[in-house]
Amino acid sequence: MKHLLSINDLGAEGIDEVCRLADHFTEVSQRPIPKVPALRGKTVAMLFYEDSTRTRLSFEVAARRLSADVMGFGVSSSSVNKGESVRDTVNTISAMGPDALVVRHRSAGVPHQVAGWTNASVINAGDGWHEHPTQALLDCYTIRDRLGSVAGRRIVIVGDIKHSRVARSCVMAFTAQGAKVTLVAPPTLLPPALDSWPVDISFSLDAVLSDCDVVYGLRVQMERQSEALLPSLREYTARWGLTAARAARMNPGALVMHPGPVNRGVEIAPEVLDRPNATLNEQVRHGVAVRMAILYLLLGADPQPRPERDQA
Ligand code: NCD
Repeated sequence: MKHLLSINDLGAEGIDEVCRLADHFTEVSQRPIPKVPALRGKTVAMLFYEDSTRTRLSFEVAARRLSADVMGFGVSSSSVNKGESVRDTVNTISAMGPDALVVRHRSAGVPHQVAGWTNASVINAGDGWHEHPTQALLDCYTIRDRLGSVAGRRIVIVGDIKHSRVARSCVMAFTAQGAKVTLVAPPTLLPPALDSWPVDISFSLDAVLSDCDVVYGLRVQMERQSEALLPSLREYTARWGLTAARAARMNPGALVMHPGPVNRGVEIAPEVLDRPNATLNEQVRHGVAVRMAILYLLLGADPQPRPERDQA
């Protein structure tokens, strides 16, 4: 595999392989010196055109734990501010010979375009409303770690599905792994065409809450909403928020997940976030091991013959 642009690039077997590798890198991350030489001499460039805390830091830590070099790129301090196009920026960075470009952009499809402009491997770190494959992978890994498997689990994804690249990638990954997914949202925050999605739909969190293994909350993405799709945040919380009263009706052992950043008290009540079945910090921790697995899969097999083998 050369690029990771979509969860579909992996399929069910690929997701299994990432999780197996992530088990190994979780063990590496627990060592006193959490570092292996697997990607020594490789360079990973970060191309983040949109804000990020966990995804960007997680990729940087993952690359460093594999002994790769990291090229940082902050849009706010780059020539993008002087009007340079994405294509010219990619050409410039590619001329420095990175092995991988980790790309986040506000428009869907940009990582796919970038893959056509560079010889490096491209990893989609979130493109518009479209996909965020490494988030879905770390979520699969977290569910397997806590519940033993994704297969057969009933997963409720609640919130702003329409604007969520996380929801799209998670639906693909969870269903590929054999979970039953129910999307819960106000009608205005569902995508217009859902016919091809392998999911059930509900407008009521109360109706599905007591019968699931995972409640996966999504951030209300005010910055992506061009029109008023919600009457108010208070009303959102009253109907679709995971309040303490609703959390008390979940199965004991059912997980509370969220990709972060969370609007405390809007999508999930603060006291629910502090409960042991809330996995937000574990998701972040697993994100490092899963991204190590992805970088290793894409860059680990060295296509260049080694000099000593050349001479043999
Ligand atoms: C998400 C994103 O940026 O797509 N965050 C993340 O990467 N963990 C979700 C969000 O912004 O709501």
